[in-house]
Amino acid sequence: MRKTVSTFAAAKAKGEKLTMLTAYDYSFARLVDSAGVDSILVGDSLGNVILGYEDTISVTMEDIIHHTKAVARGAKSALVVADMPFMSYQVSVPQAVENAGRLLKEGRAQAVKLEGGVVVADQIRAIVNASIPVVGHIGLTPQSVNAMGGFKVQGKDEEQVRRLFEDGKAVEAAGAFAVVVECVPANVMKKLTELLTIPTIGIGAGPHCDGQVLVYHDMLGLFEGFAPRFVRRYAEAGDLIRLAFGRFVAEVKKGEFPGPEHCFDGPDVSIPKMY
Ligand code: KIV
Repeated sequence: MRKTVSTFAAAKAKGEKLTMLTAYDYSFARLVDSAGVDSILVGDSLGNVILGYEDTISVTMEDIIHHTKAVARGAKSALVVADMPFMSYQVSVPQAVENAGRLLKEGRAQAVKLEGGVVVADQIRAIVNASIPVVGHIGLTPQSVNAMGGFKVQGKDEEQVRRLFEDGKAVEAAGAFAVVVECVPANVMKKLTELLTIPTIGIGAGPHCDGQVLVYHDMLGLFEGFAPRFVRRYAEAGDLIRLAFGRFVAEVKKGEFPGPEHCFDGPDVSIPKMY
C-alpha cells in the first residue's frame, strides 16, 4: 500500500514518528523503500552528493525530473517527494504551478517540496489548488545560501524565532501537508511542532519533530566532503566500498579475477586465417 498525505496526517494525530530519506536512483529507491520509510525525497542535495556542486543553486528541473523518474520506478510504498530547484518557483505563481506539475507528470512524484515560508505562500496555495501535495521547507533553506551569508543555524534570536514561526504558520495556512525544518535549536523546534497542526520533519532540529529526514550519503558515510554535526553515521559504507574497489584492482592486477567460476565454456576453436 502506497503511503499518502493521509499517512502523514494520521501519524501526527497518533503521535507516531515519520521517516524520510533521500534517494536519487532506482537501486537506492528500492533499498530505502524496502527499509520501510514513509517518504523518499529526491532532494536538490543531488547537486552536492551526486553532481559534485558546492551548493544546490545549479540544480535544474531536468536534473530533478531525470532522477525522480528513476526513484519513482523503485519506490513501491514510500511517498515520493520531488524537490523544486532554485528558480523553478520563485519567479511567479504560474511558473511554480507549471514546474510542480512537471515533477508529477514527467517525474511521477506524488508531491513536491519547496523552500521558504511567507514569501512563497502564494506559490504553495496555487500548487495545492492544482491538486499537487506540497511539503514546505523552512529554517535553513540551502537555496538561499547567498542571501543568508552561509549555511547557518536559524532561530538563534527572538527575531529569527518570530520569523520561523510566521513561516511555519504561512506554509500551513497555504495548504502544505508537512514541513521540513532545517537547522534550528531543539527547544525552538519543540514549540514549532506544538504550534503547527501539520507534521514537522526535522533535519538538524532535534528530537521534538513529528519526523526526521536525512541525506543517505551523510548517514552512510558516502559523502566525504563535509559531515554535518546533526547526522548519525549508521554505517561506514564509504570505507567498505573503497575496500571492495581496492580488492578488485589488486585481484585483476594479480590475475586472480576472474576465476574459472566466472568464465563461460565454449567449443574448441582455432584462430581463422584473416589475412
Ligand atoms: O535536498 C535535500 O536533500 C533536502 C533535505 C536536506 C531535507 O532538502
